[in-house]
Amino acid sequence: MKVLVTGGAGYIGSHTTVSLIENGFDVVVVDNFSNSKEKVLERLKTITNKEIKCYKVDCCDYEELRKVFVNEQIDAVIHFAGYKAVGESVRLPLMYYQNNLDSLLTTVKLMLEFKVNNLVFSSSATVYGKPKSVPIYEDFPLSVTNPYGRTKLMIEEILADVTKANSFFKVAILRYFNPIGAHESGLLGEDPEGIPNNLMPYITQVCIGKLPKINVFGNDYDTIDGTGVRDYIHVMDLAYGHVLALNKLSSSKDNYLVYNLGTGKGTSVLELINAMQEVVNKPIPYEIVERRPGDIDCCYANCDKAFNELGFKAKYNIHDMCETSWNFQVKNPKGIL
Ligand code: WQD
Repeated sequence: MKVLVTGGAGYIGSHTTVSLIENGFDVVVVDNFSNSKEKVLERLKTITNKEIKCYKVDCCDYEELRKVFVNEQIDAVIHFAGYKAVGESVRLPLMYYQNNLDSLLTTVKLMLEFKVNNLVFSSSATVYGKPKSVPIYEDFPLSVTNPYGRTKLMIEEILADVTKANSFFKVAILRYFNPIGAHESGLLGEDPEGIPNNLMPYITQVCIGKLPKINVFGNDYDTIDGTGVRDYIHVMDLAYGHVLALNKLSSSKDNYLVYNLGTGKGTSVLELINAMQEVVNKPIPYEIVERRPGDIDCCYANCDKAFNELGFKAKYNIHDMCETSWNFQVKNPKGIL
């Protein structure tokens, strides 16, 4: 089975490509490298011992993306391609709506044209907004507070309409909680441009001396120690969740499936810093500062549906996530060059 992975050179896309190949799928990658490095393809070859075909194409470019569908016998698509920085989306909403919606719409249009009927879409727990309680279930109310999150929610709704209109077209929506960690080889990992927005790459850059200290965004939240609680999931667990979702689509009679991909456990900022201190074996400097606008107190998943319907269960723990994130950072002090 040949899977087209859009955004396949990115953090989650590259790890998912490894998991797909390890599970017997053929993969074709499409990436415009706007937020990833071409070097990742060489690293994927080293890890998988396979030459992975990659097209440098922007998914918004119908003519160029159509050539991929003409050249390749694609059986399914996993769509990662899109911008994903919350803060940037607030500053540049039009760029986010145009890119994230257009890349999805162009991809689905071509899927329908070429009768490629199985799609896994990379969504996010951000669609739950500030949940009424935790753990979060898939049928919780959806509300978004930033343009990035709104593109995810809009795309979920677009795909609901497309599957209603085309019963043969099947979609699995995967709502990621907080992906962290890296492939055990240290060849792949989260490799943000500039100052990291997300916590884990920020921590590893402090540990390697690239940044002076961690700014902990508030310690007056209604949580175990006052700092923000999130459901961190190892990127390799997340990657395997996509394999299970593809398998489910092949056999499912329902054509619009939604799953939380998390661990079902919450970890606070200070707990994550402590876990990393055990890995790097030295104190990690941090300072409690003001809350970051838009952050919520606590967010973690109920994962029963993914377990019962996909057989999905995260196997890596916080220590594994810290260890592999650190290993990637040590092996790539200046990121993937
Ligand atoms: C985690 C916790 C912060 C940085 C976002 C997006 C989500 C997904 C994952 C794309 C929070 C705290 C963070 C720092 C800190 N992105 N923090 N100091 O905000 O839960 O989710 O990234 O799909 O859609 O919303 O992740 O890693 O930014 O923050 O104290 O320098 O760490 O307040 O409690 P978040 P995060």
